[in-house]
Amino acid sequence: MAIRNIVKIGDEVLRKKCRTQLNFDERLHTILDDMAETMYAAEGVGLAAPQVGILRRYCVIDVGDGLIELINPVIEEVSGEQIGDEGCLSVPGEYGKVKRPYTVTVHAQDRNGKNIKMTVEGFKARAFCHEIDHLDGTLYIDKVIKENIEG
Ligand code: NI
Repeated sequence: MAIRNIVKIGDEVLRKKCRTQLNFDERLHTILDDMAETMYAAEGVGLAAPQVGILRRYCVIDVGDGLIELINPVIEEVSGEQIGDEGCLSVPGEYGKVKRPYTVTVHAQDRNGKNIKMTVEGFKARAFCHEIDHLDGTLYIDKVIKENIEG
């Protein structure tokens, strides 16, 4: 495993629409392992492929209860809403309030291409929405309703 460089805001790669991941091979597994290591080293709760310069639709998430890998995730259903602080490893040192659904149901594939479906809520739902947004070139700063820049 290896820690990868995290792409920072201003780099065009963060604004591109990512393409479907078609191969569930060793190369994907290596990148996923590296992304998890990179996320933990940076003390983040999520990291999407474009943040390590790869324009493919996958991300890793761990809000403190275990690592989740989502390949080709699609949000199928949302309900409720929540407003809370959000940050991003590609936008260091900044936070802002973003409105997100309270509950989301996501269909995706695991690292071996097996279909998975998860319904998550609260902070985990926020993390899912944030990471899936990255796959379409959307950053949380596009959705901030109140900036909160502190040290
Ligand atoms: Ni982010």
